[in-house]
Amino acid sequence: MPLPKAELHLHIEGTLEPELAFELAARNGVTLPYPDTEQLREAYAFDDLQSFLNLYYELMAVLITEQDFEALADAYLTRAAAQGVRHAEIFFDPQAHLARGVSMETVVEGLWRALSRSEETHGVSTRLILCFLRDQSARSALETLAAAKPYLDRITGVGLDSAEVGHPPAKFREVYEQAAALGLRRVAHAGEEGPPEYITEALDVLGVERVDHGLRCVEDPALVARLVRDRTPLTLCPLSNVRLRTVDTLADHPLPAMLEAGLMCTVNSDDPAYFGGYAGDNFDAVRTALGLTDDRLRELARNSFLASFLEDEEELRTRYLAEVEAYVFPA
Ligand code: ADE
Ligand code: ZN
Repeated sequence: MPLPKAELHLHIEGTLEPELAFELAARNGVTLPYPDTEQLREAYAFDDLQSFLNLYYELMAVLITEQDFEALADAYLTRAAAQGVRHAEIFFDPQAHLARGVSMETVVEGLWRALSRSEETHGVSTRLILCFLRDQSARSALETLAAAKPYLDRITGVGLDSAEVGHPPAKFREVYEQAAALGLRRVAHAGEEGPPEYITEALDVLGVERVDHGLRCVEDPALVARLVRDRTPLTLCPLSNVRLRTVDTLADHPLPAMLEAGLMCTVNSDDPAYFGGYAGDNFDAVRTALGLTDDRLRELARNSFLASFLEDEEELRTRYLAEVEAYVFPA
């Protein structure tokens, strides 16, 4: 039995496995620019975030109907459950779909078909987080939030993703103010490729409650002290960092030093179909490469539930935390 955990940094479009991409392409009459799954997988050698994003957006062409989004989410939840994920807070990128003529309704209702029965089917509770693409305009983000208004009963929060450098958080001040006024929780990617100043700006200007990645905080001791003091959760994605060359190898990942410094770290999978593993694979990889003790792994699992947006279901959080404490690591 795997360690129970919450997944807090997961792009649903990044769970599109090559086999499902080809299946949906055939169903929808879409031609992919790769002859088969094997050659598609060979394209998964990335130099940086942008080189990954190019493929990530290209493959989304196969996602057209509610049924497609449902199949995508169901496939993810099946895999996540098998790796001990008990709760998943799932990002989606509506602008990437709206731009292709796929409506907000299709995306949200399709995902919701799978999410609404997930506790029953997979034993995984879920939340949805709408992400704005930071390399698009602030106006486009405002229009996207407006388009999401009929679906806010299904959406817990907003996030900020896509190409980071050159697109600082402050660009999205207004849309985050509106999201806060609508009662939405706020997170943002910051300090993945971008500088530590973007993390500070996400906290100060956007009022985020968690920082996605936040890896480059280690370059700014005052920022680390602030994050430790405020117990601001960081949703780290170790295998993603290796594949996007943010760190050279997993053995060089600063996770142990970050835990030692008292940062509230969590371990997540980001885009597992592209980066070589789901949440449990990330836990296994850091345990092996970084020699994390069972106590540290338990701390990471505990943090994931403490950092989750389960305020409206505290009894569920309490149950998950009890599962973490009761977990017996295999000898
Ligand atoms: N969109 C999907 N994965 C992402 C990542 N790791 N960083 C920024 N945007 C993303
Ligand atoms: Zn991400």
